[in-house]
Amino acid sequence: MAKKFNAAVTGVGMFAPEKILDNEYFETIVDTSHEWIISRTGIKERRLMENGASSDMGAKAVKDLLKTSGTNPEDIDLIICATVTPDMFFPATACLIAHKAGLKNAWGYDLSAACSGFLFALETGAKFIESGSYKKVIVVGTDKMSSIVDYTDRNTCILFGDAASAVLLEPTEDLNSGLIDSKLYVDGKGSEVLNMKAGGSALPASHETIDKKLHYIYQDGKAVFKVAVKGMADVAVEILERNNLTGDDVAWLVPHQANLRIIDATAQRMGIPSERVTINIQKYGNTTAATIPLCLTEYYRDGKIKKGDKLVLAAFGGGFTWGASYLVWSLD
Ligand code: UT7
Repeated sequence: MAKKFNAAVTGVGMFAPEKILDNEYFETIVDTSHEWIISRTGIKERRLMENGASSDMGAKAVKDLLKTSGTNPEDIDLIICATVTPDMFFPATACLIAHKAGLKNAWGYDLSAACSGFLFALETGAKFIESGSYKKVIVVGTDKMSSIVDYTDRNTCILFGDAASAVLLEPTEDLNSGLIDSKLYVDGKGSEVLNMKAGGSALPASHETIDKKLHYIYQDGKAVFKVAVKGMADVAVEILERNNLTGDDVAWLVPHQANLRIIDATAQRMGIPSERVTINIQKYGNTTAATIPLCLTEYYRDGKIKKGDKLVLAAFGGGFTWGASYLVWSLD
């Protein structure tokens, strides 16, 4: 059946906690240096959520979205929350955000796809809109990465930060705007090099798992880097080709913010100069499911992303999960 609607982004919102952890702070807690961090990752500082959980950050981002888009919280039909740092295994963080943000008529659920979580949730939310049965869907990415970071492990602690960001999806009959296409992948073999080993059904929490520090992020950075740099660029080029686009057509590449070197390599493969790549990794580090909507929100609010702009969103993360989306911006 021919599609009648596309899902347009009609609102954005974000929350970044005030507390800043800069590179100089990390020099005092692990054997590292500002020069190493900035040259290997592009990160200068990241945020820390001192009081509150992922749902508190998510609810603040959603409230910002509702306020700035003039949307009544009771009009929201569905909320999909992308996170790997849920407040609890259950209930879902989406339930807690809906409660805290007053989404009285919404149902919702969590989606776990690590750094690709926002793209996976965006594609899912768009399908509800395209069905014609849903009028207002919120997709929120929220991760309190500090809750699973080992601050004695210099390989990982310098990389991650806390934040949340959300978009509102509504139907548009203009099939040349909104979310046009997505290509998403998973490969469970990647679970060996990027994971949190304990706390799930494979290795429930025990004194031993705590003693062995198995409730923290484990990453073999070099192994992930190699696959990420190729995976993100390949899928971003694939989305261009599937939609008969070249790098010249793209107003902004909006990449997941894990490492500036991965972002640069992706932009180069797509033929997009760095002036047309959204970058805020220097301020926030890797906030997992929040990086892409944070970029969308900041660049839109700064007047840089404009109505009609052709955007390519791209991500790579734990799972492995990866993908790219072609989105035409709908907000004035
Ligand atoms: O978002 C989810 C997906 N994740 C990613 O996309 C992350 C992918 N990986 C990366 O971004 C990079 O691999 C890292 C930034 C994590 C590491 O950069 P790298 O250039 O791959 O460094 P490396 O892991 O090869 O380590 C090089 C050296 C090692 O020392 P030796 O073995 O050569 O003596 C590390 O021990 O750098 C050392 N090192 C550090 N030195 C100072 C590792 N972390 C640090 C640190 N400060 N914080």
